[in-house]
Amino acid sequence: MPEETMGDGWTPVCPESGVANDQFQEFQLDGEPCFLFRRRGRLFAYRNRCPHLGIPLNWMPERFLDPDNCFIHCVNHGALFTPESGDCIAGPCQGDRLMSVPLRIADGTIEARL
Ligand code: FES
Repeated sequence: MPEETMGDGWTPVCPESGVANDQFQEFQLDGEPCFLFRRRGRLFAYRNRCPHLGIPLNWMPERFLDPDNCFIHCVNHGALFTPESGDCIAGPCQGDRLMSVPLRIADGTIEARL
């Protein structure tokens, strides 16, 4: 979905029904790469920027989970992040966290803003 910010700062990302559990959706906010996903029915979103070097976490589109599908994984140097909080629990940025992106649902559409 193209980036189109509304007057209140919220940007439509995708239909709420279009994101299944453990499915990821990448998008841009003000030119900033971000991603959202659903886990156990709840939606979460973060900037796609590893706290270690400030570069994207993934090499493959929409692929962010480790091989066990438990944690968000940075493919660059192996950092692992708790999906629900963005806390880094292993790797070179352990103790740091992903930057979360606020979400809301409006008329069946997921919207985000920085
Ligand atoms: S850039 Fe993510 S662990 Fe190094």
